[in-house]
Amino acid sequence: MSAEPQLGGRLCICVGAGGVGKTTVAAAIACSRARQGQRVAVVTIDPAPRLAQALGFDELSSEPRRVQTAGELWAMRLDPKRTLDDLIASLAADEGVRERALSNRIYRELSGAVAGSQEFSAVAKLYELDRNGDFDSIVLDTPPSRNALDFLDAPARLMRFFDGRTLRLLISQGGLASRVASRASAPLLGVLGRLTGTGVLREITAFFVAIGGMVEGLAARAAAVEALLRDPASTFVVVSSPRAAVVEETIAFAAQLREAELTLAALVVNRVHEAGAPAPPAGVLEALVGERLAALVGESVHERDARAAADAAGLARLRDAFEGLETVVIPELAGELEDLAALDRLAFYLERRPGASTVGSPSVAQ
Ligand SMILES: Nc1ncnc2c1ncn2[C@@H]1O[C@H](COP(=O)(O)OP(=O)(O)O)[C@@H](O)[C@H]1O
Ligand SMILES: [Mg+2]
Repeated sequence: MSAEPQLGGRLCICVGAGGVGKTTVAAAIACSRARQGQRVAVVTIDPAPRLAQALGFDELSSEPRRVQTAGELWAMRLDPKRTLDDLIASLAADEGVRERALSNRIYRELSGAVAGSQEFSAVAKLYELDRNGDFDSIVLDTPPSRNALDFLDAPARLMRFFDGRTLRLLISQGGLASRVASRASAPLLGVLGRLTGTGVLREITAFFVAIGGMVEGLAARAAAVEALLRDPASTFVVVSSPRAAVVEETIAFAAQLREAELTLAALVVNRVHEAGAPAPPAGVLEALVGERLAALVGESVHERDARAAADAAGLARLRDAFEGLETVVIPELAGELEDLAALDRLAFYLERRPGASTVGSPSVAQ
């Protein structure tokens, strides 16, 4: 087998700040892999409406659906609540337990409080897809996280909800009205705020009775999910913008990934503005379009060049901080980037990197 020419490993986790293009890049990586002969699943989170449509989602679908494109590309949208429900259902000893757990008010509110469990759901889905063995590779989009540890913490945090530690802590810290807002307990506080009245304690008891028999299974799954994240097959592709504020966030984020000994596969610097052709000499322009228009053109060329220079500086800073890591630069592309053709345009940059295979090369499929 030849050296892996693709960007990222068999399991490719796209991480980075909000709005940098994680969802788009994840979809483009998946498209590219599918075109090269792999059977690929891509799990997206909140794709832009037109991208969702292009991927074939008319409605929220937490099952992989085949995308009408070259090769075998299967796309799905992450549905954190559904993922958790499926997990609980699979761990329930029988139908009765399952029903009682899923219909419990505390559980429903907890699982509905997506914050804090979206990272876990994403990785739990990755685990499930990986274990089912239906795909050669899986590309995972992630929620915008400032903290890489949200991924590693997520299984343990989720466990704390279900084994009652968080709840006990809250109750002991001054009753249900307590407003101790730690990252781990914030969703739970919201839940407790909504559940008032004498029924709450009964619901809480019922929750622990229903979930009690599953705690061991949940713990085992949480541990397996964490182990998968740490497996060298799980590789992180860090997506960044070249903008100064984002660059520093990316560098801090990647440092956390490295510290946690997760596998960094590549850096994608997306939406880089490039310097274009120089403006014609002012005199020529003025003669052609008049003084006012010539001034406007001059201004816009100046703005473009200033943006390109700023992006070049951001890119240089990233290259410096990520020295030794494969870096892919994707320019700011014109027009709507929300259909399959646009993903192919993006994939072009992922595939035309030095050392990458060319499109259609069969070597990648093996
Ligand atoms: N290279 C690019 N050129 C132009 N627009 C882009 C590019 N990459 C992404 N976009 C656009 O940027 C927006 C944010 O992208 P998205 O993938 O949703 O980001 P994220 O998932 O990180 O929040 C979308 O409207 C997308 O179409
Ligand atoms: Mg996104």
